Amino acid sequence: MDINSPYFHPEFETLSRPEIEALQLDRLQKTVHHCMSNPFYRERFKQCGLHPEDIRTLDDLRRIPFTTKQDLRATYPFGMSAVPLEKCVRLHSSSGTTGNPTVILHTQADLDAWAEALARCLWMVGLRPGDVFQNSSGYGMFTGGLGFQYAAERLGMLTVPAAAGNTKRQIKFITDFGTTALHAIPSYAARLYEVMKAEGIDPRRDTKLRVLAIGAEPHSEEQRQRIEEMLGVKAYNSFGMSEMCGPGVAFECKEQNGMHIWEDYYIVEIVDPETLEPVPEGEIGELVLTTLRREAMPLLRYRTRDLTRILPGKCPCGREHKRLDRMKGRSDDMIILKGVNIFPIQIEQILLQFPQLRTDYLITLESAAENDTMLVEVELQELFTDDYGHLEKLTKEIQQRLRDEILVTPRVRLVPPGSLPRQEGKAVRVKDLRKKF
Ligand code: COA
Ligand code: AMP
Ligand code: ZN
Repeated sequence: MDINSPYFHPEFETLSRPEIEALQLDRLQKTVHHCMSNPFYRERFKQCGLHPEDIRTLDDLRRIPFTTKQDLRATYPFGMSAVPLEKCVRLHSSSGTTGNPTVILHTQADLDAWAEALARCLWMVGLRPGDVFQNSSGYGMFTGGLGFQYAAERLGMLTVPAAAGNTKRQIKFITDFGTTALHAIPSYAARLYEVMKAEGIDPRRDTKLRVLAIGAEPHSEEQRQRIEEMLGVKAYNSFGMSEMCGPGVAFECKEQNGMHIWEDYYIVEIVDPETLEPVPEGEIGELVLTTLRREAMPLLRYRTRDLTRILPGKCPCGREHKRLDRMKGRSDDMIILKGVNIFPIQIEQILLQFPQLRTDYLITLESAAENDTMLVEVELQELFTDDYGHLEKLTKEIQQRLRDEILVTPRVRLVPPGSLPRQEGKAVRVKDLRKKF
């Protein structure tokens, strides 16, 4: 590996548009054939009278029906697999016990390809062997943990798998081990700075931090700039999702002007979330991805529910892989808090298990002292005084059950019946008051 090269994979990163598209067609045809080993896709194709041989051009992709999160849930746990389970070496799963979580399976080849894709991203922003890479993502099921771990090792950096939480220890690692690069979700980067300040640590003077990979939750350009100013770093937007492996799907280059999506791994479409027709080039719509290198769980036209657009024009860095604009929101009601994905229905279903509660609840998301929080207010069936500490016990129990379900700890407040706001008779479920910088 030539450490002076700007490319980790020159053979793929320097492809021209026609070369990218020729490679995509070849890989798409192979992927579609491979999907036929999976009963779900076999049935899908049969239902719409489609045969793998019908996919002759990239435009033919549009003849294939979309795949949705609901399909993944309905085939829980292993129904989306296109290889025998014995060939799989890892699975990642979403949070939740209510309803079926989603499961993503990987063969060793999938894990290798994933590590390579993300190593390519980290190399692109100037990281090299000799850098010290610290990861503040949760390990375990969160793909930001193992995903960045293997990629940073693949690149050849000294890695510090600090994992989420314990901010003081996180900072000690940064200063003592000479951490030069950090992966953190944007809201947590702000928390790190606050604690550094309180500890009398000046990140510019007392640390070697120079690069941050930030992602896993929506953030603005202002928020990025603020992180860069606070920590004295360059912060690069990192996009991915468990269904596509995890981080490494799209990443900003040094131009910091949109995230290159690796088109040797994915075919990208942007569709209108209502009509499901393609939007005109450069307009915002829902991101739809087709995997081109997946062995265990290839996905055709997967509706990500993320809203974004493809940036027009060429990137000055010379890479011709398309660039995604920063995420503009979601076309469903998923909340992302502290880098954790939460559906309001998960909260509702836990609350429904308590006979003392009504079905009216309100989730409020706030930024408090550089730490995002969730407050769940829920109406009691009837008002009673807390003479014996019953309400306090009930509150704690609800909080614990919610934490087990959504993986973050909300504050819970029990309120009198009929006291939560309603709009035209309909309950308001989520209020997002988080600072948008
Ligand atoms: N990343 C790293 N640490 C985080 C964090 C995040 N996104 N959000 C909060 N923390 C820290 C808090 O600052 C706190 O540490 P401190 O008091 O020493 O500063 C500690 O984790 C506990 O956080 P708290 O908010 O009190 O608890 P919680 O129960 O609500 O949250 C977490 C639990 C932090 C473990 C959970 O939010 C998590 O695992 N987040 C990371 C998710 C992730 O990695 N996503 C990436 C997916 S690619
Ligand atoms: P997960 O499957 O837990 O990795 O979560 C994936 C989701 O996180 C995506 O579908 C997006 O909604 C969100 N996400 C990931 N990266 C980013 C990013 N850079 N900006 C905004 N949202 C992101
Ligand atoms: Zn570029």
